[in-house]
Amino acid sequence: MLMQRSDLIDSLDVLLSTRRSVRGFKPEPVPPDVLQRIFTMAARAPSNCNVQPWVVHVTSGATAELLRDRLHAAAGEGLSAQPDFPLTGPYPGAYRVRQVEAARALFAATGVSREDVAARARSFQRNFRFFEAPHAAFIMLPDWAEIREAVDCGLFAQSLMLAMTAHGIGSCAQGALSHYAPIVREAIGAPPNLRLLFGIAFGYEDADHPANSVRTSRAAIEHTTQFHT
Ligand SMILES: Cc1cc2nc3c(=O)[nH]c(=O)nc-3n(C[C@H](O)[C@H](O)[C@H](O)COP(=O)(O)O)c2cc1C
Repeated sequence: MLMQRSDLIDSLDVLLSTRRSVRGFKPEPVPPDVLQRIFTMAARAPSNCNVQPWVVHVTSGATAELLRDRLHAAAGEGLSAQPDFPLTGPYPGAYRVRQVEAARALFAATGVSREDVAARARSFQRNFRFFEAPHAAFIMLPDWAEIREAVDCGLFAQSLMLAMTAHGIGSCAQGALSHYAPIVREAIGAPPNLRLLFGIAFGYEDADHPANSVRTSRAAIEHTTQFHT
């Protein structure tokens, strides 16, 4: 039987508001049947002309371990980033204010002082180990794709993260996982014409990890949305 509309709205509201970036995980992997289910659910995402341009590589087990070691080593050695898509920044005005607020919340939760450059670097480098998540999904695009197909991948990613939330699985989208695209391609055996947009760390949340106490705010819609009549 179909759910009542009010129950649907409530369920979606709960999913949207309980999904948040998780940056500390338990080591237990997500069972294969659950992986199949969440990626199948996410594939319902809309896309321009229904081309479904996302190419998704999910790493687990030995592949995930190898990749986290390689990416972390590259970042630790100060290797220059080699992203397939240019990194954004610095952010101007209000966008910068929002960025700083989110970073402050993470530093405060994890006891990192903003002045402590080494601690900040260590905090950032946790990205390259997928925050110790048992899995990382890499969202890639074929080389013919443009910005519209990147938008499609964003829709896919949010659908995926909501499906994960519904299954009690935590996630964190990570632009940082695109910094060393050639290393990722080599580890997963992807051809050079597959371009890496971002990664998503996921697994069961370690509720005791201090990073997971962070709750970010959102700008009031008056600042982002105009209704024209
Ligand atoms: C495409 C994308 C890339 C992101 N990259 C990173 C990242 O590299 N590292 C990280 O810790 N968080 C990353 N985030 C998470 C954002 O910081 C987070 O979504 C934002 O602060 C809002 O917080 P919330 O996800 O907890 O609601 C990324 C989010 C998105 C959508």
